[in-house]
Amino acid sequence: MQLQLGETSTVVVSSPELAREFLQTHDLNFATKPFLPSAATLLYNGRDIAFGPYGDYWRQMRKICVVELLSPKRVRSFGPIRAQEVNELVRSISMVAAGGGHEEAINLSKSLFSITYRITCRTAFGEKAQNQEEAFLPVLQEIMKALGGLSLWDLFPSSNLVRLVSGTERKLKKLHLEADVILEQVIGDHVARRRTERVDGGGVDDHDKDLVDVLLNLSSKNHGLGFSITHLEIKAVILDMILGGSDTSAVTVEWTMSELMKHPRVMEKVQKEVKEMFDGKRMVDEADLDELHYLDMVIKESLRLHLTTKLSWGK
Ligand code: HEM
Repeated sequence: MQLQLGETSTVVVSSPELAREFLQTHDLNFATKPFLPSAATLLYNGRDIAFGPYGDYWRQMRKICVVELLSPKRVRSFGPIRAQEVNELVRSISMVAAGGGHEEAINLSKSLFSITYRITCRTAFGEKAQNQEEAFLPVLQEIMKALGGLSLWDLFPSSNLVRLVSGTERKLKKLHLEADVILEQVIGDHVARRRTERVDGGGVDDHDKDLVDVLLNLSSKNHGLGFSITHLEIKAVILDMILGGSDTSAVTVEWTMSELMKHPRVMEKVQKEVKEMFDGKRMVDEADLDELHYLDMVIKESLRLHLTTKLSWGK
């Protein structure tokens, strides 16, 4: 089905056969995402990978994400951040549950959104950027809303009239500047700290550092990439990581919980599997999650049913 949305032609594919044609056989022809002026304004004019055009730069940056930022070793190294945040969430829910007989509702959606944003921000910025993290959260919330909403400017990207009359460009430029100032500050602090620690990047074990450190290490080396990794590229990729990893994870847990509540038989089976596996343990250890095969299937089914992002920031 083809939909003409303003100047943008959109094709909806709804059968497995056609999806294969688009996503496998002719993948390269469809790999570039449509040009959205909103995304370009907010995400450094396509220097990011979530909305940037397909090409050599995109492929190299994506490889850096896969090999350097999201490698299993790196993801494991950030385990303590996830454990600490999840423990905190469980503790706060237990406190409400033990609240002396008062029925108090827990807004799990809200908690899930704030926990995933805190985890991605701490992973990206490290432990010494608490002030910036707090200032960043409301800005991220606005950026997510702007990227998820329907904007007239995105439907008519070539129209100067729409650009000027809608006021979207002015609003988004202001938002971008707010995010940029915080990201620049975070990078500046990292650079200053590295200087005082006399960390030069080469041969340094950055294993326990954050994503900004990893990208700064890469920027100080010549990788034969054909382009430099400057502060601009670091900011674009970090923003991608935080925006790409937070809402998606929160929404996945939220949908899974809501499906489990609607299907008590499945909920019981999941609880049984978890209880048997972690019999006697106070907290679930991430390293053992691979053994929870039924839970894995439940999450996959939930993703199949609801592969969508809800952009409500846990309301
Ligand atoms: C349940 C969680 C997640 C879901 C459902 C999800 C879903 C998606 C989808 C549908 C895409 C678009 C792929 C395409 O256009 O071909 C995507 C891209 C992306 N995601 Fe995720 N994601 C999740 C978690 C994460 C996390 C945790 C991160 C980073 C920490 C992340 C970072 C990215 C990035 C950087 C891209 C752009 C790269 C590309 O297009 O290949 N995502 N994600």
